[in-house]
Amino acid sequence: MIKVLRFAMTCTLAAFVATMAVSAFNPTPDFTKGDPEKGKVVFQRIGNCVNCHGWAGDGKAGRNPLSHAIGANIRESKLDAQGLYDVIRCGIPGSQMPYHDQVSYKDGRCFGLTMKDFALGAEPVRGKTMREAQMVDLIAYIEKYMIGHGAPNYEECVLYFGASAEKPCADVKGK
Ligand code: HEC
Repeated sequence: MIKVLRFAMTCTLAAFVATMAVSAFNPTPDFTKGDPEKGKVVFQRIGNCVNCHGWAGDGKAGRNPLSHAIGANIRESKLDAQGLYDVIRCGIPGSQMPYHDQVSYKDGRCFGLTMKDFALGAEPVRGKTMREAQMVDLIAYIEKYMIGHGAPNYEECVLYFGASAEKPCADVKGK
């Protein structure tokens, strides 16, 4: 009995320590540490940003047909690194833009709001959970390849898709 109890306590403690580790939260990370190439993987596969924003981040180009919403044109965003970070971790309540820090809206770290502040069914949408470093890499990617780049062109598309560019880049051929 005691053994079981002790085991249960160890588990609780381990879970608590794990929670503490993931919720370690830095409101202003060092954005110079971001690796744009790692960030590309976050955009494509970990965060699924591509589903709503398209490969080019313009909210349309070659959007995944499974996507549920049309995202904003990130290429025209006026947000700086901090602004992007806040949007990625907190989402945009009242829209389809999901939040990616699993602790958002559990305490007041996003806009001073918690889930209880939203009407039933109007709560912020939860996206894939990301670590701070992944968000910082993602921001480096967005800043290097999207913001201020104008309309997407073929060269960029080939860079994005590599060897499998033929089909997804057909609509920007000659651009
Ligand atoms: C389910 C669809 C969806 C997914 C997935 C999604 N977004 Fe969005 N995103 C949106 C929509 C819709 C908006 C516009 C919200 C509004 O302002 O009404 C938006 C807005 C944004 C903006 C704000 C642009 C600006 O300047 O106002 C940024 C930045 C952004 N998304 C980045 C991302 C990134 C990075 C990811 C991946 C981690 C991502 N989004 C995943 C739908 C999505």
